[in-house]
Amino acid sequence: QDLVIAIDGPSASGKGTVAQLVAERLGFAYLDSGALYRLTALAALQQGVAWTDEVAVAQVATELDVAFVGERILLASADVALAIRAEEIGSGASQVAALPMVRAALLQRQREFLTAQGLVADGRDMGSVVFPSAKLKVFLSASAQVRAERRYKQLIGRGEEADLALITADLQSRDDRDRQRAVAPLAQSADAFLLETSNMNVETAVAQILDWWQL
Ligand code: CDP
Repeated sequence: QDLVIAIDGPSASGKGTVAQLVAERLGFAYLDSGALYRLTALAALQQGVAWTDEVAVAQVATELDVAFVGERILLASADVALAIRAEEIGSGASQVAALPMVRAALLQRQREFLTAQGLVADGRDMGSVVFPSAKLKVFLSASAQVRAERRYKQLIGRGEEADLALITADLQSRDDRDRQRAVAPLAQSADAFLLETSNMNVETAVAQILDWWQL
């Protein structure tokens, strides 16, 4: 895992944008682990499997027929890149992510993203569970208010309806669930660099991570 950068942090902290840019700059592959939890939630919904049925959802996760092709995310050949970003699916993702069997079912799939070219992995437990020996670990955070505003702008930018108060409440409950769950709770590892981005633009955050990488 000498060529792995693990970037963890709470919802809407800007991890995705920052992680993808770091990957591009370094010519590394990119793992959006949250997308796998979102895909699991969507596939379960499509198959009529309740998000609370641990055994059945884990089975759905094991059987996920998914391909990441550039910007497209194919689930059984249908492009669901946009569908998995819906707030309802985000909420489902956070529910299925609390189930230990689901996390176990997705573990190997996440590790397979690591190739000889290097990897930037984005999620909640990249540095703690999936790539514990990652060469660089970053915990990317931002205040609850800033994160709610970022998510609001993201939704509006996609032409969706958005309500700041609802988003704030939803992020709060998702954060609580991520931090309080029994397996792989969201927390900053002792060996991770903290990057507080409330007052930092994307470019500065990317530059800081590249600096750490070159240390
Ligand atoms: O940033 P946001 O919460 O909107 O979404 P995401 O990063 O796509 O992740 C969706 C959900 O999957 C999160 O709310 C987490 O509960 C869960 N997740 C996780 O448990 N572990 C990961 N490595 C990545 C995501």
